[in-house]
Formats: sequence, structure tokens, C-alpha cells
Amino acid sequence: MSKPIAMCIVGARPNLVKMAPILRAMDADGGLQPLLVHTGQHYDAAMSDVFFKDLDIRYAPVNLGVGSGTHAAQTGTIMRALEELVSESAPSVMVTVGDVNSTLAAALVAAKAGLRQAHVEAGLRSGDPEMPEEVNRVVTDRLADLLFTHSDEADENLIGEGVSAARIHKVGNVMIDSLLLLRPRWQGAARVALEGLPDRYAVVTLHRPSNVDNPARLARLLEALSSASTELPIIFPVHPRTRARLPETPLAGLRLVEPMGYLAFLDLVEHASAVLTDSGGIQEETTVLGVPCLTLRNSTERPVTIRLGTNRLLGEDPSAILPALETSVSTPVGTPPTVPLWDGHAADRLVRILSAAVANPLPLRLSE
Ligand code: UD1
Repeated sequence: MSKPIAMCIVGARPNLVKMAPILRAMDADGGLQPLLVHTGQHYDAAMSDVFFKDLDIRYAPVNLGVGSGTHAAQTGTIMRALEELVSESAPSVMVTVGDVNSTLAAALVAAKAGLRQAHVEAGLRSGDPEMPEEVNRVVTDRLADLLFTHSDEADENLIGEGVSAARIHKVGNVMIDSLLLLRPRWQGAARVALEGLPDRYAVVTLHRPSNVDNPARLARLLEALSSASTELPIIFPVHPRTRARLPETPLAGLRLVEPMGYLAFLDLVEHASAVLTDSGGIQEETTVLGVPCLTLRNSTERPVTIRLGTNRLLGEDPSAILPALETSVSTPVGTPPTVPLWDGHAADRLVRILSAAVANPLPLRLSE
């Protein structure tokens, strides 16, 4: 008898980091047949293909080729293509990760098709309704039958919103599964990717619309980063959204590089003196690697990285950057922190629960 199909959705770069261990765990568990679908939200080779290679993803995805667009256009185009694929392939469950537009589109399609769905990295809340991802998180969690979480805070958020505890499964962090598996493999990869990498440096990443879409704000941030480079050389892998908005004039002290693959980037981060970022996933990766993380935002949906890890919210005032960098560099982190269940086995726990739930003939959705 053929196995039940788990339609696994990826669209943006971090989705691949989260889905890779889930696919591996499905292979090991044997109860489900993954059908990997790439929406095409990220399409540049440097934003997608290199991640398949670095993360050793052996499944060739069905690619919906949707590409960029406004939120409504991108979400709607994914929904139309995905609805057709769901009706052709008759999956038993939809699996989504993270909080990007592809996640939201898949959650809506599954809900309308009456398809059971699991959301991985559920329960994260920044409390900032202006973040497009916050809308995606709230709606996806509301529609999911199974909510896989990575921290106490995520569980508390869901319970606070009235979600039945029976739907919530704290399994740990699948992104950290990838990190712990591949750490031995990335050693030295940054030096191969970036010629002349100094021994001491800081890393910057910026791509949030709140930081890069407003030219005045971006200019102030870049100016502050450029001044902070007197403290340490700064390596800045530039996301395409940000690249399109950078000024033409070169930025003193900042070494701008192309988006990097998973292995080279994680090696770069592991050996950095500090990371300045507005990314979500990097707040978690720096915690596990024991690298100081200065988050260039007012809020985080990942407070566990502040409570137990190396993260610090710098807020929106760029003048905070230089003093914070000085403090981070002069304060030793010591032993890298431990976060419960961020142990490299989150996907195994998740797939065991998912497989059993799909095999159960009862409807998954539980009354709340
Ligand atoms: C998306 C996610 C964000 C996530 C980020 C990870 C949403 C709402 N946002 O943001 O949560 O943190 O991915 O990287 O889903 N572009 C390219 N090549 C590509 C992809 C994008 O040039 O391969 C450019 C296009 O100009 C596009 C812009 O980047 O318009 C933004 O891409 P988009 O996918 O809309 O959002 P991200 O900023 O990448």
C-alpha cells in the first residue's frame, strides 16, 4: 500500500534550513512519503540552489516558479498553483515551516481544501502587527491542526490565544538540527568563500522592510555601521532586497559580499566576534554557537534567545550600535548556552508525532 503523502512547503531560504531535517527524519521514520514543493518565492541560485546542495536535500522539488511580487500578488499566485497541485496529488497532510508568505499561502490552501496541516515553528509572536511575518504567524497557527513549537514562550503564546494544549507539541528547534548536523562540515568554508577574511571581524545582515525599505533609516543604519567598523572590520553579506536599496557610493569600512551559502555563512558566524542582524533565525544560531548577537529591531519573536542565549535587542536607534559592539567584543560569552530541546533531534520527535497523527483515522482538528 502506498504511504500517505506529506506535502512539504518551502519558499524562502530559511525554510530550506528548517525543512531539511524534517525530510531526513521522514526518510528514517518511513511512515510518510514527502512531496517537496518549492513555491519559487526565492529563486536566485544563491538564495535557493546552494541551500539544497549545502543541506544535502535529495528531493527534487515541484517548483511553482512564483517569484517576487506584492504580498497579495505573491500569496495569491502561490495559492492558485498550490490548490491545483493539492487536487492532483491528494496529500494526507500539509507541512509548513516558519512565517514567510509561502507558509501563509499553503496554510490557506490546506484549510480551504479540508486538508490536515502541521505548522513547524509555531507560536512565535513579536507583538508587532506591522511585521508582515506576524500576520503570517498568527493566521498559520490559527489554521494548523498540529502546532510544533521550540520554546516555552511559544507554548505560552498559543495557550494565551486559546489554543488547545492537545494541538501543541514542543519538539525543539529544527533549524538547530541542521546546525548541529552540519557544524563539522562547515569548518573553514568561510575562508574559502571570502578571500582575505581577517581573524577578527563582525558580521552584519539586514533585510527587514522596517530597516531597509525606508531610505533615510537605511542611510542612518549604514552610517552607524560604517562608524562601528573602526572597532572591528565588518563583513556584510547583502540580501537581494537590501542590495536593490543600497546607495551607489561605497560604504567605508563595510565589506559587502554576495549572499552566502549555508555552510560558508554559518562558519563566518561561528568565528565572528559579534553579529548585528535583523534576521530571526540568526538570533537562534548565534545563541547555540555562543556568539554575541545584537538585534537591530525593537522586538523579537524569539525571546528565549535573550532569556537563555546571547541575544540583545538594540532597538531602532543606530547610535546604540557602536557602544553595544564595544561591550560585546570586550565581554567573553563563556560556555555557549543550552536551550532545552535544541539538541539536534527536534525533527525526529516531530515526525514521530506527525506520522502517528496522520495514521490515526480520527480528524486531527480538536475542538478548542
Ligand atoms: C522573505 C520573507 C522574510 C524572510 C526572508 C528570508 C516574507 C513576507 N518575507 O523576505 O520573512 O526573513 O524572506 O530571506 O515572506 N529577490 C531576489 N532574488 C530572490 C528573492 C528575492 O532578487 O531569489 C528580491 C526581489 O527584489 C524581491 C525582494 O528580494 O522583491 C524581496 O523578496 P521577498 O521574497 O518578497 O521577501 P524577502 O525580503 O526575501
